[in-house]
Amino acid sequence: MSQLVSLTRHNNVAVVTIDNPPVNALSPGVPEGIGEAIRSVAQDAAIQAVVIIGGGKTFIAGADIKELEKAAAPGGGSAGPDIHALLQQMEDCPKPVVMAMHGTALGGGLEVAMAGHFRVASPSAQMGQPEVNLGIIPGAEGTQRLPRLVGLAAAVDMCVSGKPVKAPEALSLGLIDKIIEGDLLSGAVEFAREKAGRPMVKTRERPVAAGDIAAILASGRAQANKTRRNQTAPSKVVDALEAAATLPYEEGWKKEREIMKECLASDQARALIHAFFAERAVSKVADIPPETRPYEIRKVAIIGAGTMGGGIAMACANAGIPVVLKDSEQAGLDRGIAAVRRNYESSVKRGRFSQDVMDHRMALIHPQLGYDGFDDADLIVEAVFENMALKREIFAAIDKIAKPDCVLATNTSTLDIDEIAASTSRPQMVTGLHFFSPAHVMRLVEIVRGKASSKEVLATALAIAKKLGKVGVVVGNCRGFVGNRMMIPYMREAQLLAEDGATPWQIDKALYDFGMAMGIFAVDDMGGIDVLYRVRQEAKHLEKPGRRQPLVHDKLYHMGRLGQKTGAGWYKYDENRQATPDPEVEALIENTAREAGIKRRAISDDEIVERCIYTLINEGARILQEGYAQRAADIDVIYLTGYGFPAYRGGPMWYADTIGLKKIYDRICEFRHTAGEWWEPAPLLKKLAEQGGTFAAGTAAGA
Ligand code: 3HC
Ligand code: NAI
Repeated sequence: MSQLVSLTRHNNVAVVTIDNPPVNALSPGVPEGIGEAIRSVAQDAAIQAVVIIGGGKTFIAGADIKELEKAAAPGGGSAGPDIHALLQQMEDCPKPVVMAMHGTALGGGLEVAMAGHFRVASPSAQMGQPEVNLGIIPGAEGTQRLPRLVGLAAAVDMCVSGKPVKAPEALSLGLIDKIIEGDLLSGAVEFAREKAGRPMVKTRERPVAAGDIAAILASGRAQANKTRRNQTAPSKVVDALEAAATLPYEEGWKKEREIMKECLASDQARALIHAFFAERAVSKVADIPPETRPYEIRKVAIIGAGTMGGGIAMACANAGIPVVLKDSEQAGLDRGIAAVRRNYESSVKRGRFSQDVMDHRMALIHPQLGYDGFDDADLIVEAVFENMALKREIFAAIDKIAKPDCVLATNTSTLDIDEIAASTSRPQMVTGLHFFSPAHVMRLVEIVRGKASSKEVLATALAIAKKLGKVGVVVGNCRGFVGNRMMIPYMREAQLLAEDGATPWQIDKALYDFGMAMGIFAVDDMGGIDVLYRVRQEAKHLEKPGRRQPLVHDKLYHMGRLGQKTGAGWYKYDENRQATPDPEVEALIENTAREAGIKRRAISDDEIVERCIYTLINEGARILQEGYAQRAADIDVIYLTGYGFPAYRGGPMWYADTIGLKKIYDRICEFRHTAGEWWEPAPLLKKLAEQGGTFAAGTAAGA
């Protein structure tokens, strides 16, 4: 028996345990081990039934994505590991095979489970076909067996959304046969014993409960287009499900395999697989050894109950962490708490959670004006106005109150962490925790490393981000850190494009069609024209004289067109904050360009995308070279989780690699002549382009 799979006997029931930590993926050796166990059980007259169960924290969480990555690589050319024979062998086993699921039975894990004769699960277990998240479809007959168990409509929903269902829903859908309270293994063994010698049905021989096939498939395709814009796999998975409903099983699974092969060979699959591993790699920081012990965070104190402070308090309460939330003014505190309450009420109204959950979370947040309770906080997060003097004053005050091992964090989006840390007697305990707005929703947290921040503090920041369900990325302490530093030239280029002849709405549409969650002008209106205005004012002294600056943005600010909040910015907004293009803005841009002597011309969507996205990439390359991001993949994760970059393009740096750095470098050199001196190629980009390299290979961790 393989070391990854063991076989034990519980009287007349055999128990096959998969032991491939951390998530019991179907790595090489696991399918073979299960096959060997089933063979031996089939021949053993003393055994009357079999239970297959996962060791550790979960059932099989899927195919081994590392193996899929290999198959997806150019030249890989397969549909991934083939376990058809194993599935058939289990289903044909003359003794009942009972799958006992806990944790997550995902992808290939659920596909294995569906080839059993019965399925039982712990109450908290989850099952799903999340393959679309990786740009692929189920490749081990999931699209064929799932509709035979839950019906076509539910199968379409599960495969297109990629969302798992919890055990109670799985039971009502017919995906599992029983929920086992208490010990799963003994419950499953008992269940298997009851089934011994009784009739059993092979899933592949069940009919598909379909109903109106055409309507279900049409609605699945509509769901795919709506929720997974520009992505291929979600509609392809509907094609595979159509095969289940319209073809004999033998043809259906072969069709699925063909589609899987096609998806796996796509740029989208490669990008999404990259995104999966990149998100998990960010927590591994070269000089923070895995054995570094984070401080335990049992209580958080927050200063500033505004937009960010309130959101961070909710993020903590949602994770069950008690919070003291301080503001300097009663009005600020009342506003902050009212916003938190409104947010929770809206979630209760939409059925996200119950009133009880809301009450519990509200009770975890203690609003106050003083520093009571700060002395035993494990983490203090400052989120007051963006003002260095004020932040220094606050850090000097908390330095006197906080316990020695309390982590002191600032949510500043632009200020120098070292200068803030210098106002304390313990700069090693200080870090930036740059949450994004709305902080209870956005997954990204940039963990800004000051020059004195200790390894334990950074490890704590990574741990708390994870605990809050967020992705923490350690970045260096430069102006704008990583995300906003790249955003500034991106926004500037979009504005220059508008002055050169495109309209804001053409630019936004081109970026949206490229896959960005929102166009950049819409983003500016949402964040507030005044916010970017202030950032630009503060950085005025850094501007190189004579270098072209956008002209219209300042005018909008002085006209009081501050974006959504004033009903007008780049766009006009109705009472529901719906944007419409504004001829007044178009005229303003045209007049401004004429006065500045800019010769306007028609600009193609391709040029818009290239100039906007390549400027992001160029700045990303500078950041990498200067060491403010550890690896290209970290920048990708920042843009995927904080800036609405399309995951199926893998992030800006991965996207650059797929386009080819030489091509990008050449285009940037052309833009240098046609679009101005902002287009100085980053030295790292130049070097990698000349070497035929990639950001991924050239800047892998530790490289
Ligand atoms: N293959 C390979 N490695 C995997 C993996 C998989 N399927 N799932 C997780 N891992 C690795 C992670 O990379 C990470 O490795 P690291 O410690 O070296 O960074 C480690 O397992 C732990 O993962 P998480 O940090 O994500 O652990 P969590 O406890 O937070 O989450 C999970 C567990 C819910 C299982 C989550 O890891 C997950 O969603 N995994 C992916 C599940 C999935 O997509 N399955 C389908 C795969 S595709 C497939 O099966 C195709 C089939 O149809 C043929
Ligand atoms: P805000 O203006 O909404 O809230 C600031 C709060 O701080 C107000 O309630 C104010 O009364 C309170 N405050 C001011 N002085 C105080 C003091 N001495 N003690 C206690 N409370 C005090 O500001 P916002 O937007 O929440 O920003 C806070 C910080 O987060 C800033 O540093 C900002 O740059 C940063 N940030 C903001 C983002 C955003 O999108 N709004 C995104 C990421 C970071």
